[in-house]
Amino acid sequence: MKKFLKKAAAVACAAVMTLGVLSACQSESKELVLGTNAAFPPFEFTTTNGVVGNYDGIDICIGKKIADSMDRELKVEDMEFDGLVAAVKSGKVDMAVAGMTATDERRQSVDFSDTYYTASQVIITNPDNTDINSAEDLKNDKTVGVVLGYTGDGIVTDDLEVEESKITRANRGIDIVQDVKNGKLDAVVIDRETGVALAEKEGLRFVEDPEVFEAEEYAIAVKKGNTELLEQINSVLREMKESGEIEEIANQYNQ
Ligand code: ARG
Repeated sequence: MKKFLKKAAAVACAAVMTLGVLSACQSESKELVLGTNAAFPPFEFTTTNGVVGNYDGIDICIGKKIADSMDRELKVEDMEFDGLVAAVKSGKVDMAVAGMTATDERRQSVDFSDTYYTASQVIITNPDNTDINSAEDLKNDKTVGVVLGYTGDGIVTDDLEVEESKITRANRGIDIVQDVKNGKLDAVVIDRETGVALAEKEGLRFVEDPEVFEAEEYAIAVKKGNTELLEQINSVLREMKESGEIEEIANQYNQ
């Protein structure tokens, strides 16, 4: 994302937040702790002048809106994605807003809000790698990068059954995409918006394959049984969906 666009996005988020920001300033309420992994633009990333401290992105805007609606201050806890479900489960964070796909496996450990964004996986590859044009092609002796614990990891490992010795697991999408750029890996499988943003930034190519990469629904995770917070989150999401605000924010950050 270009610098001025980031700025525009932050302004857009701030504009729709005006009411909430005022109410948050007037209160000295308890913090609402948002857990995330801020290496996932445009949903969460770090920047000099973010919506909350150095944190910015679609999810941070949504989290801010939720905190404002409860008259609480939003605190962002940045951690490895793979540790988020445990952090929600243990109460270290109140909610995970992290472009997290609501999967059946995760539902065994946490409760999910209504969904707020539909995504899917894409393949990032070098423009020179002309023989990667579908998910199937990744099984053809290709080295594939994923981010540890992302849904893309599960798809490459369990669905596509790419040979274990060909898979590299990183902690951040940003790092693994660099490995495609410098030729260490043939491809990376990652969520579409992040993948496309990183591919465009690095001059890489992306490949879609909707038959294999099914729709994934992002939702907010809370501790099992925390229905009070879950209902509050759902009412904010409902309002933001009905007013078109989520779409508006997403469009701004997806530019
Ligand atoms: N949607 C994918 C998943 O749920 C990836 C999410 C990564 N999010 C992040 N903030 N790093 O597994």
